Amino acid sequence: MAEPQFSCVDGAQLDTETAYRLLVGSVVPRPVAWITTIDTDGRVNAAPFSSYNYVATSPPMLAVNIALRPSDGAIKDTARNIALTREFVVNVATESTMELAHRSAEEYPPHVSEAEALGLELLPSRHVRAPRLAASPIHMECRLDQAVVLGRGVNTLYIGEVVAFHLSHEVFDGRRVDAEKLRPIARLGGPFYAGLGEIFHRPMLQRPPGGEGAAG
Ligand SMILES: Cc1cc2nc3c(=O)[nH]c(=O)nc-3n(C[C@H](O)[C@H](O)[C@H](O)COP(=O)(O)O)c2cc1C
Repeated sequence: MAEPQFSCVDGAQLDTETAYRLLVGSVVPRPVAWITTIDTDGRVNAAPFSSYNYVATSPPMLAVNIALRPSDGAIKDTARNIALTREFVVNVATESTMELAHRSAEEYPPHVSEAEALGLELLPSRHVRAPRLAASPIHMECRLDQAVVLGRGVNTLYIGEVVAFHLSHEVFDGRRVDAEKLRPIARLGGPFYAGLGEIFHRPMLQRPPGGEGAAG
């Protein structure tokens, strides 16, 4: 059988554009955090971010990487608001919110609220001033723990502690979130999103916190 052929690309000196293209094509699928923040005048900002995941469980923590704007190198509104207020809300993006979440990525000037422009219904948060998005079935209120400037400074990782989860009973039975009911979307490389696709079941081979799904 013919040996598979590989392209080998060195990482250290890669230009940002190529690095981005290789990363977003290779690190897939990525969950989409639809993040709400407020600015110092209380204007609500909403934008999607897929360089995102949970990073700790005690206490619960999330991290999102926000880049400088490629067009002009300016700080994005979400990043500026998180740095100023030290608060944000992650709303889980789903199939039914995909269209609005996607449109909220458009470059609106800082004084324009995406929430107003797109007619997003807002719900008050419990612990932070940034509101939640009613269209999303899961909201995580976060307080900034650390902002870590990465590499040559294009990217900053915002690590937030989840101070409250809000889980719609349509997707949460009091113990577990049902992924099939949640219907999360994922970001792929380029202009592509994906849904859940086929779900595979295998027993857990090590005991996770809480013991969910453990073998035996
Ligand atoms: C699905 C999706 C995922 C995105 N993920 C990121 C990301 O992880 N980091 C980032 O800096 N920008 C990401 N963007 C681009 C931002 O959403 C975009 O720059 C937006 O205008 C930022 O809005 P803001 O200036 O209101 O914060 C993503 C866009 C889309 C559509």
